[in-house]
Amino acid sequence: MLKITNLNVQASDKTILNDFNLTINDGEIHVIMGPNGAGKSTICKAIFNHPDYTINGNITYNNHNLVGTTPTDISRLGIFLLNQNPIEIEGITNAELIRNALSAKTGKPIDIFEFNKKLNEVCDIIKLPKSFVHRDINFNMSGGEKKKNELLSLFMLEPSFIMLDEIDSGLDIDALKVVGQALSKYYAMYKPSMLIITHHPDLLKYFPDYQVHILKDGHIISSGDKSLVNKIETSGFEANVISRSKQNE
Ligand SMILES: Nc1ncnc2c1ncn2[C@@H]1O[C@H](COP(=O)(O)OP(=O)(O)OP(=O)(O)O)[C@@H](O)[C@H]1O
Ligand SMILES: [Mg+2]
Repeated sequence: MLKITNLNVQASDKTILNDFNLTINDGEIHVIMGPNGAGKSTICKAIFNHPDYTINGNITYNNHNLVGTTPTDISRLGIFLLNQNPIEIEGITNAELIRNALSAKTGKPIDIFEFNKKLNEVCDIIKLPKSFVHRDINFNMSGGEKKKNELLSLFMLEPSFIMLDEIDSGLDIDALKVVGQALSKYYAMYKPSMLIITHHPDLLKYFPDYQVHILKDGHIISSGDKSLVNKIETSGFEANVISRSKQNE
């Protein structure tokens, strides 16, 4: 279970998140939507204790305190972030990174035969050319290719808590389907907890059920079941806050 309470995050004297609270139980999917600049990506970076941010409040995963913990140790706990803008690393291949990460996670040497077999299987699931396994991480890849390439690590490392920050942005229609089906398969196989950040409802149809939160000005202003996505699509963020608060009167 991920539990965030009273989270305040600042960068360069700007308060980005204030009084942010969220609990994601094992196997639950939570979707965060909200205007550009609301602080959605900052949530993921705060969970990973990014050094650019001053973090106050509590973030725990399965009772481990994440505030002050290194990103390496946070990864070891089974947390995975697919960044909105995946970084390019020239000189290190996907296979090298994943093999080292797996070895660090398990503390055991990797059986190269099993490793290559699984890499091939995952490439088939996410429809990534097998040549990508030996390409430098995200280097000289198109925006959509980078998103699929990040999924290679996700499937290989088998995290229990996944954050997807706009995985759907930059994907063509066919790629969105492949990615949606792959994530749906991952969810069915491993039942991870998920935090999905998106501006578009198309990806969400691949998931059976989820809770939705609207983030604005650094905190959640409205939450609901999956029907909230359609309401947002029809009438925008503000209208749904007003209509929901009126319902509670
Ligand atoms: N390191 C930083 N230093 C200063 N300001 C920052 C920093 N990181 C983020 N911000 C600011 O915090 C606000 C929230 O940024 P964030 O990237 O979390 O927004 P977002 O909700 O993910 O937006 P989008 O939908 O466009 O991806 C923005 O105004 C941004 O300029
Ligand atoms: Mg963002």
